[in-house]
Amino acid sequence: RKKIIIDCDPGIDDSIMLCLAAAYERQLEILAVTTVAGNHLINKVTKNALDVLDFLKMDVPVARGMDTHILNPVRPAEDAHGENALGNVTLPDSVRKPVDEHAVLYIRDLLMGLGEDEKVTLVVTGPCTNIAMLFRLFPHIKKKVQQIVLMGGGVKSGNVTSAAEFNMHEDPEAGEIVFQSGVPIVMAGLDVTWQCGLTRRQIEKLCQVGGKVAKFCGDMAGYAFERSFHELRRILPIHDAVTIMYLVHPEIFQDEDAFVHVDCSYGISRGETVCDFRWWRFEEEPAVKVLLSADENKFQELLIEAIFELDERLGNL
Ligand code: BDR
Ligand code: CA
Repeated sequence: RKKIIIDCDPGIDDSIMLCLAAAYERQLEILAVTTVAGNHLINKVTKNALDVLDFLKMDVPVARGMDTHILNPVRPAEDAHGENALGNVTLPDSVRKPVDEHAVLYIRDLLMGLGEDEKVTLVVTGPCTNIAMLFRLFPHIKKKVQQIVLMGGGVKSGNVTSAAEFNMHEDPEAGEIVFQSGVPIVMAGLDVTWQCGLTRRQIEKLCQVGGKVAKFCGDMAGYAFERSFHELRRILPIHDAVTIMYLVHPEIFQDEDAFVHVDCSYGISRGETVCDFRWWRFEEEPAVKVLLSADENKFQELLIEAIFELDERLGNL
């Protein structure tokens, strides 16, 4: 099993990503879930992480992370994710609490506690603030990170602005620190995540024929679908789930290597991931694998199947 730490800001698609990670328990061992301010303020996304994990019967430690970005203010995305950041779908309150340690220190301790040859994959589906702080405070820790699989950025387009995707737009400085860290990165940006989504019919099916987890995902996705603008609402992209899907099914994705910078200027492209594919111009190896496309049908099939199987395993049917 691949050891992973999930750093997220749940969030509708972050929560579906957590369901997918739970479904792939045979392939992935989740050491911790850490939270970062992004889709909502830190208290709300941390509560959501705990509630979702309890709902999934996953006894994984949760650590609360950065409540501010490096320079930008935090701007809750209530339009897209609703007042409770779960599309106003409610779950029973978790009785657990986050661990006492700050997420950045908790990740450091987990990495330091690994065996000599062990490494961990970081899955990042919110702004990169925690990971940027981690690398700035404890640069030696990078050698314990196998790779970072992150949702953020895009070659062709942004979503918050024409240039910038939400996670990078929220904290461009953190994104830039992470992209320049030298750690191998897989970037699941909008180019690929806009191809990885569910149709209205599939969302309805989740609500109607599935168990509790399917209904939870379907209800949240239904909320988001009504607010989505993409491709005339043909599909609702489940952005963050692409990270986990990539880890378990890399064969359904196409990628290209690039050097990536995040625009930290205060012009119209602040937060843009500037991807340089001219590898022949550089002496070093590009550190970033940019996912560019996916087998759309396969993604849908695998996601739905995983959710149904999870419900079955949890006895929710
Ligand atoms: C990203 O922005 C957030 O709103 C989602 O959770 C996802 O991580 C998509 O741009
Ligand atoms: Ca997210």
